[in-house]
Amino acid sequence: MRMNTHYSELKESYLFSEINHKVATFKASHPDADVIRMGIGDVTLPLCQASVEAMKEAVDEMGRAETFRGYGPEQGYDFLRDAIASYYAKKGVALERDEIFVSDGAKSDLGNILDLFDSQNTVLIPDPVYPVYVDTNLMAGRRIQFLKATVENQFLPMPPAGVKADLIYLCSPNNPTGAVYNRDQLAQWVAYANDQDAILLFDSAYEAFIRDPSLPRSIYEIPGAKTCAIEFCSFSKTAGFTGTRCGYTVVPKDLTRGEMSLNRMWLRRQTTKFNGVPYIVQRGAAAVLTEEGIRQAQQNIAYYMENAAIIANALRGLGIWFTGGENSPYIWMQCPEGYDSWKLFDLLLEKARVVGTPGAGFGSCGEGFFRLTAFGRREDAKRGMERLCGVYPR
Ligand code: MLT
Repeated sequence: MRMNTHYSELKESYLFSEINHKVATFKASHPDADVIRMGIGDVTLPLCQASVEAMKEAVDEMGRAETFRGYGPEQGYDFLRDAIASYYAKKGVALERDEIFVSDGAKSDLGNILDLFDSQNTVLIPDPVYPVYVDTNLMAGRRIQFLKATVENQFLPMPPAGVKADLIYLCSPNNPTGAVYNRDQLAQWVAYANDQDAILLFDSAYEAFIRDPSLPRSIYEIPGAKTCAIEFCSFSKTAGFTGTRCGYTVVPKDLTRGEMSLNRMWLRRQTTKFNGVPYIVQRGAAAVLTEEGIRQAQQNIAYYMENAAIIANALRGLGIWFTGGENSPYIWMQCPEGYDSWKLFDLLLEKARVVGTPGAGFGSCGEGFFRLTAFGRREDAKRGMERLCGVYPR
């Protein structure tokens, strides 16, 4: 028996599992501790009303013989794919229904998409980065080249001269740094990818948090992107679906390599390995994209962005350098002198009962930084920052 030995190249556990484990251990020895979680980017506000009502109606439909549904189309129901196409039309992007594939979330698709590519391809991944991009490539034994994101390039690395890559991951607004590429920067990436025949894997899971109207919310707002980019998006952060599970991936029909259409390959992959998202959930997702649904979801996002402003103000008060929090729910702050990111994690957990995410968990360039999320409740954002200010080394 030969095993996939590439698994031994992975860290012992997934970043957020490791944090959960540390917090559970701490709580076991401090059962009364009131721990405030600003670590994993998990939402706290309930689903919006439009979505709840649509799902209730869908449950009723499933309970009546005349409207009951069994297997649905693997790539999603037309009503949701059309709603997603209309959502893109509002951003000025024209998509055909069959360029949109509904899934149970961006994380799954970001991993699954690798089925389409040879394991000998070279992958370019920014560092720091959402750990899923790195781990899924390591699992397949693919060669990774890291692209440094630093204070100097404002955590927005640009195409490296003289480097040949096949697959390139970009996430904007970025997880973990909160940095957002502007139109000109994305145009440079699109030109680079088209020049080299590379494919951009563009994660736009946080697009709904962009407040600045000049910033692009889809890679397809950039001319030329349909011949070089696949986009991944999700209802998780946009509409509180982290537990409900629904996302989508856009694979344009213009995206071909040699004789192969990536759109057809992805359809083949999904119809073989995936049985679709539950009808009830897809109804809930489609309701998010109605006028009323968008308004309600944006209300929740505005609440989180107020949390971000509270966090940012507290950091400014302490004179701490940070980025993010303006067009993104993540705030990426510098660690104090003498602290690496896990040491700051331990200090904040033990002394302030506040959980954040150590930058080192997102890659070696993340060392020296720490991520806070704005997805908590208002009271917790306030209390969390008061506590952080109280123990912060000066
Ligand atoms: C995060 O905290 O980075 C996210 O919640 C992870 C995810 O979306 O899977």
